[in-house]
Amino acid sequence: MTRGSAPVTNSRRRKRKALNRLIEEPIFEKVGYEEYRNKVRNVYDGARGALLATCSMLSLHMPLGERLFKERKFDLRGARRILDVGSGAGQIAGHLLKYADPRAEITCFDLSHEMLRRARQRLKSARPRFVVADLTRLPFADGAFDCVTCGYVLEHLPDPRVGLAELSRVMTRGARMLLLTTEENLAGAWTSLIWRCRSYDREELARTCDELGLRWRQELWYTKMHKVLRAGGICVEIVKQ
Ligand SMILES: C[S@@+](CC[C@H](N)C(=O)[O-])C[C@H]1O[C@@H](n2cnc3c(N)ncnc32)[C@H](O)[C@@H]1O
Repeated sequence: MTRGSAPVTNSRRRKRKALNRLIEEPIFEKVGYEEYRNKVRNVYDGARGALLATCSMLSLHMPLGERLFKERKFDLRGARRILDVGSGAGQIAGHLLKYADPRAEITCFDLSHEMLRRARQRLKSARPRFVVADLTRLPFADGAFDCVTCGYVLEHLPDPRVGLAELSRVMTRGARMLLLTTEENLAGAWTSLIWRCRSYDREELARTCDELGLRWRQELWYTKMHKVLRAGGICVEIVKQ
């Protein structure tokens, strides 16, 4: 694993957690998963979901995300069966349509039927298959995909293990995943508040992935500035062992 971050001591981690708690609203700790999932779906079905593509442009997530594929920091060559997790407005799916092999099959899934409708409308392509599904219970066969993109979805699971185990199950051995998720820092805490999600400690998440046979191959950064400032959240290429 290429680890670009300085090790975080327990006391620094505790201080950071305490600071985040002041901003975050850890709703997933107060209700059961089903109830939390319904709240998440309502958020994305509603006005915030309608603004998701615009937010992704304004936050530069969409143009900077494109660079990961265009500059082959995450190389799509050779990928034949691609799964895009929690496709939202189709922000990552749009890059897949542009940079993946034209013969590659692309499957997009999301909890929100409404988000998939928006994605379909925005992408204007008959190529992806759109499926309504929950990351914790995927309706796909074992080893169905050789490539996965998962952008800002894992933070919507109270326990990442359940979703990561499902992703590991549907990935072939040697399959690669691009995982983007919210990091436990100040920017992450604000994101959590707005989108009713959680955030992750980089080291803890890497360990959890490892335990599930998902090895972090390299940490990626949108730009050099993101790397220097440790900004932009967790962005990592993972390989299924
Ligand atoms: C912030 S958007 C991410 C969109 C896109 N992947 C990107 O990178 O910008 C999060 C999406 O994940 C979906 N989502 C949240 N929890 C989910 C779950 N348990 N299963 C499937 N999709 C989920 C939401 O409906 C929403 O469309």
